[in-house]
Amino acid sequence: MTDQQLRVSKIENGTVIDHIAGGQALNVLAILGIDGSRGETVSVGMNVPSDRLGRKDVVKVEDRELSQSELDVLSLIAPAATINIIRGYDVVEKNLVERPSSVTGVLECPNQHCITAEDEPIDTHFEVLDDGVRCVYCDTIIRESIAEQIKV
Ligand code: CTP
Ligand code: ZN
Repeated sequence: MTDQQLRVSKIENGTVIDHIAGGQALNVLAILGIDGSRGETVSVGMNVPSDRLGRKDVVKVEDRELSQSELDVLSLIAPAATINIIRGYDVVEKNLVERPSSVTGVLECPNQHCITAEDEPIDTHFEVLDDGVRCVYCDTIIRESIAEQIKV
């Protein structure tokens, strides 16, 4: 494939999430709540060759810009992602995701005995580490399986 060809077409308006680690695109779609049921136009490239990452995933969501809380969760599973806002085919904004120091209410604690897993309405609260997240209530650390703990 030459530089003149694109594997996934350019979009007119929306968000391109670029430089997602290879294999994480479906988790990114899950975070954004995209399952195709709302009729959104979404293009996904998986394991696309990349100079920087070797292989990367790319997700293009048309006619949608992402909220800060979506970006926070995204940063946990795609720390190297670039968020490109596209308007009229131009990249009008390019941002790196920033990892928050903690996330509240977005992940489920996998420890069934954790206070946040009880009936009391206590929001989950995880401290963000370099290589995962830690429940501030029970110290459970989640590393590889963060995507599975995202609340729906
Ligand atoms: N893109 C798109 N539709 C557009 C414009 C750009 O889908 N109308 C995509 C490009 O294919 C690329 C991303 O948005 O995946 C960023 O575009 P651009 O900044 O032009 O690419 P690069 O310079 O390669 O970006 P970076 O420096 O972040 O690697
Ligand atoms: Zn816990």
